[in-house]
Amino acid sequence: MFGRRHVLQLTFFLVIGFLGARFLIVVLTVTSRLSRTQIQQTYRYINMASFVNGNTDKMTFVPFDATRPKKVIILTYQRCGSSFFGQLFNTNPDVFYTYEPLDSLYSALYGIKEGWNVPSDITTYWNGSERIIPTKEGRAISIFLDHLLSCQIKSLPTETLIHRFWFLFSSFHVALRDFIKCLGTNGLKYTRCEAYTPGLCGRRFGEFGDDRLEKCNQFLWTNELRRSSRGILAQNTTKYRRCIDGMRAEVDRRCTPLFRIQCQRSELRATKVVRATMASMDQVLEQDVNVRVIHLIRDPRAVVLSRLLFDSSGRSRYAGKDVVKEATVYCRDVVRDIRRRRQLDEKYSGRLLTIIYDDLTRYPISYAEQIYKFLNASLHEKTISWLIRNTSEKKNSTKIASKWQKKLSYQTARRIMDVCKTFFAEVDYSFS
Ligand SMILES: *[C@@H]1O[C@H](CO)[C@@H](O)[C@H](O)[C@H]1NC(C)=O
Ligand SMILES: *[C@@H]1O[C@H](CO)[C@@H](O)[C@H](O)[C@H]1NC(C)=O
Ligand SMILES: *[C@@H]1O[C@H](CO)[C@@H](O)[C@H](O)[C@H]1NC(C)=O
Ligand SMILES: *[C@@H]1O[C@H](CO)[C@@H](O)[C@H](O)[C@H]1NC(C)=O
Ligand SMILES: *[C@@H]1O[C@H](CO)[C@@H](O)[C@H](O)[C@H]1NC(C)=O
Repeated sequence: MFGRRHVLQLTFFLVIGFLGARFLIVVLTVTSRLSRTQIQQTYRYINMASFVNGNTDKMTFVPFDATRPKKVIILTYQRCGSSFFGQLFNTNPDVFYTYEPLDSLYSALYGIKEGWNVPSDITTYWNGSERIIPTKEGRAISIFLDHLLSCQIKSLPTETLIHRFWFLFSSFHVALRDFIKCLGTNGLKYTRCEAYTPGLCGRRFGEFGDDRLEKCNQFLWTNELRRSSRGILAQNTTKYRRCIDGMRAEVDRRCTPLFRIQCQRSELRATKVVRATMASMDQVLEQDVNVRVIHLIRDPRAVVLSRLLFDSSGRSRYAGKDVVKEATVYCRDVVRDIRRRRQLDEKYSGRLLTIIYDDLTRYPISYAEQIYKFLNASLHEKTISWLIRNTSEKKNSTKIASKWQKKLSYQTARRIMDVCKTFFAEVDYSFS
């Protein structure tokens, strides 16, 4: 039987329990109210239109030399919507467009396995420290881009001509259809030579550090050094050279002319790169008044989510699957380039344009028009109809571009905003 004491005890606990529950509810309400505003802020669409319009309004278009072809470099980063962006050129039959040619340059320079010169590894060591691009490397990029856009195919490395990206991304190389077919028919692929160097120079960029890269570069590019040295590096780079040079003769005899013809017949040549820095643009802009640079950037929250969902060649080795670390790497790369771009603007006013992918997907047609206006060319009807098809209601590109709003947790989005503070400040980010 319950005694009086029990009843009192029970009442006591009920009251305490009730008060405790009330207290908890109040606390929960307050915190959820607090974070609801924070959540709204954290998830708000990044509106950088003022940044872009500010650019173009002030811009005086620099005249092209009408007697020579126009050249445009799209400088961007992995998972920034550059496949979509590149289609603005690839769908135009008057344009010679190449997609991502610099991976092959890195393999040629250092003997890294093709496809594994991961852009974020080029700018960030595996321990997370920033890698400053050596002057020599930056210069090699400038020279390569100049040769490519001037159709000096003879001066391009063999690794470029036989790279797997031609096959992997053949739909992004409409202008090179015949060339790619020729490579396939004749079995002209880098894989024939890939046994020799990746084990020594890197199966992935950064595997063995800068000293090894330098060493591989010297062995690959100095005949004298190979001849006068012993050891596995001398042996294998010798075999590699023989293999590659043998293929060069074959490619040049059978397929290179198809590449050259397509390139030369185009009055507008475009290339998209994710392995260059703004610093390398200086020399290319200097070289030819007809060169223009488009800097394509995207909301870091969308970029890191997209990288997370991609395979490991789309992320820095340092970050692994940590999106906050990946955001640190991405934002550092973009901030460095935005700052450099400001310097270049003084020297080459009217020749650089920044495009925010998130804005482009909202107003694809008007952005496409602006981009072609910047190049003093007109939008081709085939490009317009592609744009309409690709961004139709059923396949809403804005929705795709802002998928991160549904997928990233609040905490993660918040932390990305923190590590990317400078990025948001530099692009004049406003919550609107
Ligand atoms: C644009 O092209 C037209 C001819 O198509 C030419 O008259 C004009 O000068 C060009 N403008 C610039 C800025 O190069
Ligand atoms: C739009 O184009 C991009 C680039 O070619 C492609 O990856 C994407 O699947 C296309 N989207 C739609 C909805 O057609
Ligand atoms: C990270 O690695 C690089 C290259 O090996 C080295 O120069 C740098 O000092 C390292 N940084 C840290 C913090 O260990
Ligand atoms: C050197 O080349 C041979 C092929 O001749 C290859 O089997 C070997 O793995 C290479 N060595 C290294 C360390 O990658
Ligand atoms: C695409 O989706 C966005 C966000 O859901 C919406 O605001 C926009 O109106 C849609 N656009 C079209 C063309 O349906």
